[in-house]
Amino acid sequence: MNLFPRYTKYRLQVILIASVVAGGCASPQPPASLFDRLGGMPVITAVVDKEVDAHAADPRTRRTFSGVNLKTLKASIVSMTCAATGGPCKYTGEPRMANAHKGLAITSEEFDVSIDQIRDALDELHVAAREKKELLGILIPMKADIVGR
Ligand code: HEM
Repeated sequence: MNLFPRYTKYRLQVILIASVVAGGCASPQPPASLFDRLGGMPVITAVVDKEVDAHAADPRTRRTFSGVNLKTLKASIVSMTCAATGGPCKYTGEPRMANAHKGLAITSEEFDVSIDQIRDALDELHVAAREKKELLGILIPMKADIVGR
């Protein structure tokens, strides 16, 4: 006996295709934010902790950090990074990077070394290549606003 007469087989195929198509459209998932793909607050906090310690210790970058409260600075950079990558934070520090670095006269070399230190921190925390590239793609274009203020 044929359990699936020809027309039933056809109907089953139509139902199968329709449910695959409908299933694909019913609940489109929004793409995960860079914030989530980086690993959220634990990873961002750890990266900023490492990078700011490196900026403040390295003779090539430490010049502008003397007398700066590193704990407050870290909290501010964490919240800025969280907000800039699509996370749930509201950054309440100075939004214009030119103003945040006014009077520091940061050089192009200091900026480039700082980016290397951020890259090292991302590597130490095993941030994947794609997320590293995206985050640096947000930070590097800030150079013109930060250098020479
Ligand atoms: C893309 C790179 C950078 C980002 C995203 C960044 C971000 C920030 C943020 C968010 C603040 C705090 C602003 C506030 O709380 O109102 C800050 C302050 C500061 N930044 Fe940067 N910064 C960058 C590069 C640099 C570089 C290259 C240096 C020096 C080598 C530097 C030195 C400082 C110092 C010393 C302060 C504290 C100023 C003060 O408290 O008077 N920053 N930065």
